Amino acid sequence: MKEMLEKIRASALECLQNDDADLEAIRIRFLGKKGELTAVLRGMGALSAEERPIVGQLANEIRADIEKAIAEKSAVAAEKKLQAKLKAEKIDVTMPADSTVGHIHPLTLVQRELEDIFLGMGFSIVEGPEVELDYYNFQALNIPENHPARDTQDTFYITENILLRSQTSPVQARTMEVQKPPIRIISPGRVYRSDAVDATHSPLFHQLEGLVIDKGITMGDLKGVLEIFAKETFGEETRIRFRPHHFPFTEPSAEVDVSCFACGGKGCRICKGEGWIEILGAGMVHPNVLRNCGIDPEVYSGFAFGFGIERIAMLKYHIDDMRLLYENDVRFLNQF
Ligand code: PHE
Repeated sequence: MKEMLEKIRASALECLQNDDADLEAIRIRFLGKKGELTAVLRGMGALSAEERPIVGQLANEIRADIEKAIAEKSAVAAEKKLQAKLKAEKIDVTMPADSTVGHIHPLTLVQRELEDIFLGMGFSIVEGPEVELDYYNFQALNIPENHPARDTQDTFYITENILLRSQTSPVQARTMEVQKPPIRIISPGRVYRSDAVDATHSPLFHQLEGLVIDKGITMGDLKGVLEIFAKETFGEETRIRFRPHHFPFTEPSAEVDVSCFACGGKGCRICKGEGWIEILGAGMVHPNVLRNCGIDPEVYSGFAFGFGIERIAMLKYHIDDMRLLYENDVRFLNQF
């Protein structure tokens, strides 16, 4: 019996010499319930009382030896596997990263460029609330309740008197209420209208409004400022054209066109053959608006203008669908 046990030890250890030995199979073969060592131990009943503890001790020793050898082999294999994995997955941290760097959204880009143009002319930037009182969005601007001009600026109402501003013009009124002339401000920001989404409309868009109030301000000043704005935005060759219009808060009022920057005024696809492109509304601040805001129209005069930032961005970058500016498809955004 001792010989059989020694044979088992020898053959188990020999199996374990093999480099790609299947450790689990070896364990089952020698130490498992139906394994060779177990089979020998089952036969121990036939031994004499003196022999039994000696053989039992030897069997336990052999079991311990084989277990130890398997554990050692298994630790070596695990270490080998780890080293191979580390080698395979080695990363060179000194290699330049394949990274995508974020950048400024085209609308923000254009807004900042526009702000820079007006900052350069001595304007300062003033912001106002997007959730606005009916009073500042309409009434103070000479648009009383039930005035037809409200139709084109239908918006979203929070209560009867509180709404999402439909234009940045309420910032005019808010500024004039608290600031003595001279006033020279622009107010860029989000505005809202109850328009359905299409290639040129969105219920949320951005405007930039300008306001200048001082003694002796004339329409000539308005033209000068807008001419500089147009040249800096669309190129040195750009001319501007005023067409009579009506806004309740300015008198006289005008719609302002720029000569087409693509064809220079000859007529092309971009200006739809007109040679001119409409870009903004403007006018001399209505005396009622000045009075509503505590400024004496006999002493002071001023002008205001306002335009959509999306429209400028679309013209500048030849974007033919406004939705591209909001969908944030990286294939579009990466071009700026
Ligand atoms: N707020 C006007 C609009 O949204 C534009 C405008 C501003 C016109 C200032 C004149 C003066 O249509």
